[in-house]
Amino acid sequence: MTKLSIAEQITAAPRRELCSSELTWDPWVHDARPEAPRSPRYGPGASQWDAIPASAPVQTEIPECYRRMPEEELADRIAVAKASLGSRLIILGHHYQRDEIIRWADFRGDSFKLSQLAAARKEADCIVFCGVHFMAESANILAADHQRVILPNLAAGCSMADMADEAQVLACWRQLDEILGRGEDRAAVVPVTYMNSSAALKAFCGERGGVVCTSSNATRVLEWAFMRGERVLFFPDEHLGRNTGVKLGIADDGMVVWDPRRPLGGNSIDALGRARLILWRGWCSVHARFNVAQIAQARRNYPGIHVIVHPECRREVVEAADLEGSTEFILETISSAQPGSQWAVGTEINMVNRLAAEHPDKLIFCLDPVICPCSTMYRIHPAYLAWVLEAFVEGHVLNEIVVPDRVKAAARVALDRMLCLPGQAQPSTARGRGRPRCAT
Ligand code: 13P
Ligand code: SF4
Repeated sequence: MTKLSIAEQITAAPRRELCSSELTWDPWVHDARPEAPRSPRYGPGASQWDAIPASAPVQTEIPECYRRMPEEELADRIAVAKASLGSRLIILGHHYQRDEIIRWADFRGDSFKLSQLAAARKEADCIVFCGVHFMAESANILAADHQRVILPNLAAGCSMADMADEAQVLACWRQLDEILGRGEDRAAVVPVTYMNSSAALKAFCGERGGVVCTSSNATRVLEWAFMRGERVLFFPDEHLGRNTGVKLGIADDGMVVWDPRRPLGGNSIDALGRARLILWRGWCSVHARFNVAQIAQARRNYPGIHVIVHPECRREVVEAADLEGSTEFILETISSAQPGSQWAVGTEINMVNRLAAEHPDKLIFCLDPVICPCSTMYRIHPAYLAWVLEAFVEGHVLNEIVVPDRVKAAARVALDRMLCLPGQAQPSTARGRGRPRCAT
């Protein structure tokens, strides 16, 4: 198994093994410049064919000295800045970050675990979130007032989160309200948003009796929601919603898809009346790349191989796999597996490649034979990390993510409803804003 990072593999690979030749370009070619004020695309990688909304955050070009800096100098300067900030700084790295970033992370994890960890470390006033925009927003919601949350590249959004904006969800909600009413003993509809959504949508749920879920607790959260309402409106990931609905035994005709571009989401009034689960039409383009043919090929090549996929994959992929779960679940399952075991994995390639490098006693590979990282995670490059860290040392807070107070309070209500569910892991050292308020 190769020990090369994905960035090194991209440089070495023939064109046919990459989903885009632009992966070999430096990420700052996509930064906004005076002559090109915003990038029209998410950048090369899995989301490159998704439509980028006008509201997506823009990253202006980082200073030339960082663009020209050799890798070793960037590494030296990150190390010096990190050492000088000491315990004032926490660098968080999502599992999908490139190796050149993960090496600096104080903590690795999924988005929610990282936000909780940051909130529990009150001595840190600088939280650098090497992940994507909604993760930095969640960290800001959970963090104490003195903690500043920084996203090294503002263009690191999430194409799935961007598939549901507040105005569209509000329009959907009003139509459902007209057709289904508000409900009596139980609400007609309970809104549930996946962690991968804007703070505004978490606030939307907080204000309407709804809740947030993650890929590791979606089943428990939907059970909670169905105790309070007749139906659930689930956004923005259709696939996580459907895979969870299947686990809860909801029949196919009890699940409808709401396409925000069509009247009534593309449904009849009768179908909406029968539906138990209304699934927003949104998807992750990383996980949409996995298919049943890849699983069949892996089983032909390696009889007895274990197939493990993320629940953002389509239903037929999850059904053809042996196991499904969040990035943390995938990591723990493979890490604790027997030496010599074989794993075909359906999740982002930086994480799979790192698992393979860290477990040379097991065969671990990505189901997708083409190198195609998450476009936005890949925008975080050591040049941006060095830039924001050196600025912080100099007393300048660049690329700060601040959720407005009103949104923060309502989003926190929806997050607390999730945190207060029985069995939900609590941050043991959390104090102040990191601790959930369970009376809501
Ligand atoms: P988790 O790390 O929460 O499983 O989510 C995967 C993902 O797609 C993050 O963007
Ligand atoms: Fe969004 Fe998918 Fe990338 Fe995660 S992997 S940040 S869900 S586009």
